[in-house]
Amino acid sequence: MLKLSARTTVGELMAGPPALYATLKSTGLFRDGDDPGVMLGQLCWSFGFNPAILLMMLEGANVPEVVPPLDAAPFRAMALAELVDHIEQTHHAYLREVLPKLTASTEALLSEAGGTESLAALRDEVQRVAAELDAHIRHEEEALFPMVRDLASHTAVRATRCGDAVGGPIACMENEHTATQRSLGKLRELTGDYAAAADASTLWRETMAELERFDRDMQEHIYKENEVLFPRALDAQRGQPQAAAG
Ligand SMILES: [Fe+2]
Ligand SMILES: [Fe+2]
Repeated sequence: MLKLSARTTVGELMAGPPALYATLKSTGLFRDGDDPGVMLGQLCWSFGFNPAILLMMLEGANVPEVVPPLDAAPFRAMALAELVDHIEQTHHAYLREVLPKLTASTEALLSEAGGTESLAALRDEVQRVAAELDAHIRHEEEALFPMVRDLASHTAVRATRCGDAVGGPIACMENEHTATQRSLGKLRELTGDYAAAADASTLWRETMAELERFDRDMQEHIYKENEVLFPRALDAQRGQPQAAAG
């Protein structure tokens, strides 16, 4: 985990977990192309922003990301509409199947153990991330993805509840991905990286294995959206060639 202070430069922050830079950009204090040598304290001073508030916001995103062992090349080579279909059919379908299961199994674990504090925290965190992800994937499917499909077919983008430009919903989805990364970090912390003791019950083992699969799938899902889909959608909106984008 990166140690943050008012003397940390943006360049140092960019070398930390990707969620840090995404959070900084979401404040509007720094944009791509600005001088990365500037210290966070100087940046706040020039905007009249309280550095303590910025550091508090950044701490929430200071969670090490598990980079999936994923070759992005096949997803960069896919047609844009095909990539959106792949994300829906693979990752969104998986979430719709696994989130109710994880909610039920963490509740059952809590009953099995007679209600410990850490298992109650695990159950609560799973319920929270399940509700957030359910809303998140609906938002993508009802607003952002239809816009991307319009861009892919070179037709005018039809307005959705998020307007008719992809930049706004993409920034919103990136922020929600950061919140999901924080929740995944919390799940790892609460379960000791999904560990099962030698005498753990079958329910415990199966739940930890499913949580670990869920974490891995989310890393791949977020990676494909943040690193491949979103940059390509923004390029398509700017009228740049899609095939070489990403
Ligand atoms: Fe998604
Ligand atoms: Fe997403």
